[in-house]
Formats: sequence, structure tokens, C-alpha cells
Amino acid sequence: MTIHIGAAAGEIAETVLMPGDPYRAKWAAETFLTDAKLVNEVRGMLGFTGTWQGHRVTIQGSGMGMPSLSIYANELIRDYGAKTLIRVGSCGAMQEGMAIRDVVLAMSASSIATPSSGIFREFNFAPPADFGLLTAAHRAARAKGIATHVGTIYSSDVFYDERPDLNEQMTRHGVLAVEMEAAELYNLAARHKVRALAVLTVSDHLITHEALPSDQREKSFGDMIEIALAAAFD
Ligand code: ADE
Repeated sequence: MTIHIGAAAGEIAETVLMPGDPYRAKWAAETFLTDAKLVNEVRGMLGFTGTWQGHRVTIQGSGMGMPSLSIYANELIRDYGAKTLIRVGSCGAMQEGMAIRDVVLAMSASSIATPSSGIFREFNFAPPADFGLLTAAHRAARAKGIATHVGTIYSSDVFYDERPDLNEQMTRHGVLAVEMEAAELYNLAARHKVRALAVLTVSDHLITHEALPSDQREKSFGDMIEIALAAAFD
């Protein structure tokens, strides 16, 4: 047990998928894993461990934002020995030519600040995805026929953004999409020498203002889980 995860030693797999929403973790575990067992419910941040095609997998909610994800990812890596951590979540597209439901694979994640900023101080570390996971996820997404974009994203601290001028600069510099967790996951993966990737679905578009209808969210989320699992065990 850790402060925020109630699982016993050995109940967390080396491969962990991390949706922001704990109820998405429940849905994914019930839909894709065999013999899924609830291993964490501290603060309602549900986590499940089961098997996928014979491989042990944990699906653990991260909560929203980097401070929340940082708590769970730190404990998963340092206390439970997680070696592969894949965020599965939504993002807002920042480039023309991207469509709702497209998949974004975050090669790197830019940020204004992360929970690791105190360590880096004046140094702007560019946290990267694991290359093997990235290429395997790309193959899996293409095999499903899903339009897929690979590049840098922006991990923001705010959902209700008061600085649209900054978003314009991101778009100008080719940033594909905005979300709120990946940069700190990648920082932690670099620090602890584990593998990380963010597999994202475009749920809204900052330029066209389109949004994914709620009845289509489950299908897109399922596609991401399958891509993440295929990448983890490629
Ligand atoms: N996640 C999905 N859409 C987002 C947006 N527009 N901003 C930040 N995080 C997001």
C-alpha cells in the first residue's frame, strides 16, 4: 500500500494504462481485460489488474492535471515497479487538417510548467515518449485505419485558458494538440528509466470549435485502449 494506492505488493502489473477518468478505467478493465480485479479505490481513483492476451495489465485512473497524475505515476513506478506507463486520454486539436476522433501520439510534450519544474529550474527539458512504444502504437493505429498524427503536444495546467494568444503561438510552431498530463508522465519516465507514451483522441478542436459527441466517446476510447495494449506488448 502507498498513500494513494491501496493495492497490495504484487497486485500492480509492470504495464499500466492511465486514463484520467477512474470510471473509464473501470469500463476499459471490464471490456478488455480477463479476470479484472479491483486493486485500488482510494479516493475513488479506481485501478484494476487483469490480463490481455495472456499479459498482465493494470488500468489505473490518473485524475486530471499533472499534479494528480504525478502522484499516481510516482507511486506506480517507485513503489510498485511499473515499467511501462501509457496515458490514454483526450486532447484538443491545434492544427488545421486534424479532425475529431483522430489519434495523436505525443512524441514529446511541451509545457509552461510541470511538477518537475522545481528540479529543472532554468532548464527547459523536452520530455520525450519512448521510441519503441511510439512506433508500435503508430503501427497499431494505422492498422486500425485511424487517422493518426505524431508530433509534439502541449501539456497545459488549465482547461479554461485565459491566454488564447499563447495557443496561437503553439499552432504556429506545429504543436498538434493540448491536454493536461503527458509532460509530467514523460518527465517521470525519463527520471526513473521506464517507458512512457500518451495515446490521445481528438475530442475538441481549438480552431474549428467542433467537439466529439458524447455518444461517440466510448468507441474512440476503446480504440485508444486497443492501440495502447498492442504497443505495450508489441
Ligand atoms: N483535453 C481535451 N481537450 C482539451 C482542451 N481543449 N484543453 C485541455 N485539455 C484538453
